[in-house]
Amino acid sequence: MFPTPNLDHITSNDYENVYEPAEDTFLFLDALEKDIEFLKNNINPCICLEIGSGTGCVSTFLGQLLGDGTTHINPYATAITVKTAIHNSIHLDAITTNLTSGLLPRLYNNVDILCFNPPYVVTSSEDVNSTNLIERAWAGGIDGREVIDKILPLVNDLLSSNGVFYLLVISDNKPDEICERMWNDYKFQSKILASRLAGREKQLILKFWRNQS
Ligand SMILES: C[S@@+](CC[C@H](N)C(=O)[O-])C[C@H]1O[C@@H](n2cnc3c(N)ncnc32)[C@H](O)[C@@H]1O
Repeated sequence: MFPTPNLDHITSNDYENVYEPAEDTFLFLDALEKDIEFLKNNINPCICLEIGSGTGCVSTFLGQLLGDGTTHINPYATAITVKTAIHNSIHLDAITTNLTSGLLPRLYNNVDILCFNPPYVVTSSEDVNSTNLIERAWAGGIDGREVIDKILPLVNDLLSSNGVFYLLVISDNKPDEICERMWNDYKFQSKILASRLAGREKQLILKFWRNQS
């Protein structure tokens, strides 16, 4: 069993600007740990990328398992992500960018593991572009899908031939519709890798991979 990354370098002041790890974060860790043998045996990953790393808890955990990079729209989070990695003796690169802007074409079909715990809460569309960084960390707009829907087309460009994409969603995000879209548009297969109830919110980790047949 791999330990949850040590986050005791992060102060309550930091959490005024950076998303504090919560049930969704820990479900992500559980799902990655559950899939570790698959990742090691079938993928032998070179490039792992997390979008929206927050404190860097998920990336650092993945680094403990394997290695690599993160992106974030929030510069405070990029800085904390790097600190969390160093604090846990992990090497990773972090950049401040919107989703994966600037990473293509360099990473075109080169990412072996892509992770995103997105802003998924159902809100108004205005909230998605809030100037409050914490609100922006969870506000997902209509159906909580407005940020999620922007990343789906990029997955096809980013993933390597046997790469995998892990996405946290809640039932309000209409996971079946997301899976159907990934199949219809890009022929990605999918499954629910992990799920749990957090209050009234049903959280799921979806796993996507290219259809090989
Ligand atoms: C639900 S939080 C998850 C944070 C962290 N990965 C975790 O699991 O604790 C979503 C994160 O995505 C970031 N984010 C939101 N929109 C983004 C965008 N367009 N590009 C990159 N990151 C974004 C937020 O700032 C926030 O840190």
